[in-house]
Amino acid sequence: MSQTNLHIGLALVMGWLSGNGWRRDDSQVEQLFNLQPYLDLARQAEHAKLDFVFRPDTLFLKTEPLNTEPGFSNLDPFILLSAIASQTQHIGLVATASTTFLPPYVVARQLQSLHWLSQGRAGWNLVTAIDGQQNFGENQLLPSKQRYQKAQEHLEVVQKLWQSYPNSSLKLDKETPQFADVEQIHPIQHTGEYFNITGPLSTPTTPFGDIPLFQAGASNEGRAFAASVANAVFAATPDLEAGIELRNDLIQRAAKQGRDPNALKVLPGLSLYLAETREAAAQVYQETHADSDLEKRYAYIEEAIGLDLRHYNNGDILTEADLTEFDRPVRSRTHSNLMRQYIIRERPSVYSFLQRPEVCGSSHWLVIGTAQDAVDSIIERVSAGAADGFIAIPGGHIQSAQLFFEKVIPALVEQGWFREEYQGNTLAEHLLG
Ligand SMILES: Cc1cc2nc3c(=O)[nH]c(=O)nc-3n(C[C@H](O)[C@H](O)[C@H](O)COP(=O)(O)O)c2cc1C
Repeated sequence: MSQTNLHIGLALVMGWLSGNGWRRDDSQVEQLFNLQPYLDLARQAEHAKLDFVFRPDTLFLKTEPLNTEPGFSNLDPFILLSAIASQTQHIGLVATASTTFLPPYVVARQLQSLHWLSQGRAGWNLVTAIDGQQNFGENQLLPSKQRYQKAQEHLEVVQKLWQSYPNSSLKLDKETPQFADVEQIHPIQHTGEYFNITGPLSTPTTPFGDIPLFQAGASNEGRAFAASVANAVFAATPDLEAGIELRNDLIQRAAKQGRDPNALKVLPGLSLYLAETREAAAQVYQETHADSDLEKRYAYIEEAIGLDLRHYNNGDILTEADLTEFDRPVRSRTHSNLMRQYIIRERPSVYSFLQRPEVCGSSHWLVIGTAQDAVDSIIERVSAGAADGFIAIPGGHIQSAQLFFEKVIPALVEQGWFREEYQGNTLAEHLLG
């Protein structure tokens, strides 16, 4: 890929609080449930002309990790992003909403409301979710394939609801008087496998155009779903090879469906541990993860690929032969597949496998180094066709976020990889090109 306009988002999380990071004097952990740190991040992102801020979300809480770190404690994404909408003008606002647990009527209305309040800046990160059934009256998480079938129908209902009360029906004519042309407002009468919904929606569509769709899971079904409907994919690509494979596959699948492959942006998560020197960055990373529990990693690998490493030696080499057939349903086939592929391709030692992002992080692309190292890594990946941009997740200490805004983005702008000014006002416009 030649020099291009990257698409860059920022995870709207205090990513530097994880591990031991929250214990640093300047971590601002006391602000975790306040608006201020997120508003600061969003304002910096807007000042840097990023495409969007991106709020991940889960609907469950594991209490054990809270002994030592914030874990999955969170705020509601729509409420948080609405507050940010009122104090920003350009930055896109991408909210995560689960198709497995949340009713489509509620999701359709929340998204359309955020789109109104932000004047066209809402985006939907549509997740099939990895946990939370216990909070929604279900005993077991549906197998991943069924979660995607439900997601397909959920999206269909949301889109029908959006069309049920079109913007063109709003007349607001005080003279006649006609508030709305009711001929244009209609029930949807949807009857399907998972949902029976009459409609219409109580919130009309906006005049600001479509709400872009983001998607994350990268199993076969996840990719098929993304290729058919998504405008952007939040990808877990721990290395260049995984990025190239995923992006090529999504481009081919989108083209087969008759879509313009350029309309689907592959945006990997980019975990950044930045400092003025490589040594300092390595130290921040090491301090952040110093107390990371080995047993937790063993359990995570066992859950994901059925491989129990507890009785292996650190120097043992892992190969395909260590991977047995494993057909138990898993929370994320994306993450399981990434682990399997790495073992097959790289034949790592047990020790080095245990340090990998697939095992001790979220499987994201990881840069531990200077701002220049991050810039080099970004240009390498984009040039190799492994990404159309990225979603930045600064970690370790708050300085990673500062260096990202003060050095990484300006360098990308200076070298012609990223915009100097917004060309449009809506998220869909930011994602064009
Ligand atoms: C990079 C990435 C980010 C994800 N973020 C979320 C999230 O914020 N909330 C959530 O409930 N699920 C999240 N998921 C889970 C997916 O929505 C999906 O349920 C899971 O990956 C299983 O799909 P698969 O079979 O395609 O792997 C994420 C998955 C990936 C790969």
